[in-house]
Amino acid sequence: MSAAASPQPAPQQIVLVGLSGSGKSSTARVLAERLGWQLIDTDDEITKRGKTPAELIVDRGEPAFREIEASIIEEASKQIPAVIATGGGAFGDAHSRRRLGERGYICFLDATPPELARRIRQSSDGVERPMLGEDLEARLYELDRERRPYYNHADLWMPVQVPTAADEAPGEATAPRILRAWAEEGSEALRQDQRLERLGTDAPARVPAAIIDTGEQRTPIWVGPGELNRLAERLAQLKLNGTVFLISDADVMEAHGERVAGVLQEAGIAGASYVVPGGEASKSLRVASELYGWLSEQRAERGDTVVALGGGVVGDLAGYVAATYLRGMPFVQLPTSVLAMNDAAIGGKAAVDLPAGKNLVGAFHQPRAVLADIETLATMPHRALLEGFAEVIKHALILDPELLALLEQHAGELTSTDPDPDLLTQVTARSVRLKALVVSSDPQEQGLRATLNYGHTIGHAIEAITGYREYLHGEAVSIGMMGAARISERMGLISEEIVARQADLLRAFGLPLQASGLSAQAVMDAMLLDKKVQRGRPRFILLQSIGRAVVSDQMEERIVEEAVRGLVSP
Ligand SMILES: NC(=O)c1ccc[n+]([C@@H]2O[C@H](COP(=O)([O-])OP(=O)(O)OC[C@H]3O[C@@H](n4cnc5c(N)ncnc54)[C@H](O)[C@@H]3O)[C@@H](O)[C@H]2O)c1
Ligand SMILES: [Zn+2]
Repeated sequence: MSAAASPQPAPQQIVLVGLSGSGKSSTARVLAERLGWQLIDTDDEITKRGKTPAELIVDRGEPAFREIEASIIEEASKQIPAVIATGGGAFGDAHSRRRLGERGYICFLDATPPELARRIRQSSDGVERPMLGEDLEARLYELDRERRPYYNHADLWMPVQVPTAADEAPGEATAPRILRAWAEEGSEALRQDQRLERLGTDAPARVPAAIIDTGEQRTPIWVGPGELNRLAERLAQLKLNGTVFLISDADVMEAHGERVAGVLQEAGIAGASYVVPGGEASKSLRVASELYGWLSEQRAERGDTVVALGGGVVGDLAGYVAATYLRGMPFVQLPTSVLAMNDAAIGGKAAVDLPAGKNLVGAFHQPRAVLADIETLATMPHRALLEGFAEVIKHALILDPELLALLEQHAGELTSTDPDPDLLTQVTARSVRLKALVVSSDPQEQGLRATLNYGHTIGHAIEAITGYREYLHGEAVSIGMMGAARISERMGLISEEIVARQADLLRAFGLPLQASGLSAQAVMDAMLLDKKVQRGRPRFILLQSIGRAVVSDQMEERIVEEAVRGLVSP
């Protein structure tokens, strides 16, 4: 996949699309400089003709503005070589999309509306953006809903959730990642079958719910009812043509194994399966070693594929085995629990436990694809189903006020024994996209990814001192999130109202808010023993507002202790 191996030169045009605040103009500037190409900013081109886009919209209305914009795009699309930054709405026009696709490698810069709103407010020209109006965040959410189906037609999805460092021009971080993808995949992308037809239709693109992009590899995450039935098709798309080595646990295999075997058989794919006992005890070096023995007996080769069918335990175990056997085999995840779909299967972390602690031996190994079949959740034990929602609620709290509202509105339905598959798909896809956005924007774990540990500092401590028996992970995280929210409130970051809102939502999902009867001191001590503690200070993720979390190890011990006491005293 190197540029040298590519039979055709990379396209001579790069096009940037995305909402206001995503950094199109500044990224385009950096790209044009690096490549020595012409820079075309369609908003600037419009302004050169006498009026800014804002003025045009006010004076002549949006349709007239769109017409002018389309003619500018038509002109720009003929320029070679060039980097083109488009106005946020330009890509909504089917004709313009097709034009831009003729020569251009199209990149979608993506971040959440709250993050975009923050950047727009910070930038000095924030007042200039005409389409956004008073309630910036709400308007951006609206535009995101409207335009994402079009943006999804882009050749490259480029997550830009990480705020740029103070000493770095916006675009400096994004441009090299775009250049790399452009050199490696640009020519292939433009040669895709039916690409221009696809760009020219108004039908939404059929894209995965999210992509994990580490800079080295991109992993599509498919979410929906019936995804298991598409396994053979997806394997073929990924050119994974070898034998499938399916790893599962007893309960999941009983409920869903036959379906997977049937799909493989029908497609003529050779396969073998290994079933481990359910439960955390299977995440061990002993079981991993059994699996190595099985794979070698089966003469597994590096071109074969390890497939995990199950919850986080099976995913972590199979992922670890796939990462290490033959120094790494292709891996595909079929998560079947809410927790695995929303958390464990996303991000490429795989590990087994040691007697000394959880997840102590592991590797980073991105799956080639994740297929989350919502239908499998129908057989989940209810408590484990609810537990998984703690991570979904966490994603909403730290990143996405709209998802939070959606969860509040539909808590009853989602916690019922037979939730609507479309609703489950919508919620899962959205939460998965948030985790993917964070992981992909921060593959080096420079900070943003750490915010996913909201509720986990205290949560891990509670799990540890109760020997992982009393509370399921999500339950402990729920209690931990109450602690973290309380600390955030005491530090003046959020109001009492937000703490109460979080509590109400967790309660609505049947999740605990307290760990009555534990010793506060034991929780405090366990926090200091956590492997993630740096220099003797536990690190907390605090809530700054709904949709925004920050990392801090600067808490007063008094405040932490008080919060912990509040969690353990009845
Ligand atoms: N790798 C990561 O980034 C990451 C993140 C979070 C958690 N984890 C790990 O995930 C594990 C927990 O995951 P989990 O909660 O999914 O646990 P799990 O895999 O043990 O699943 C919970 C229980 O539900 C059963 N089950 C799962 N799906 C089912 C289905 N569709 N139908 C019937 N039964 C089903 C399982 O057999 C098991 O008994 C932990 O080991 C944790 O360390 C990993
Ligand atoms: Zn977790």
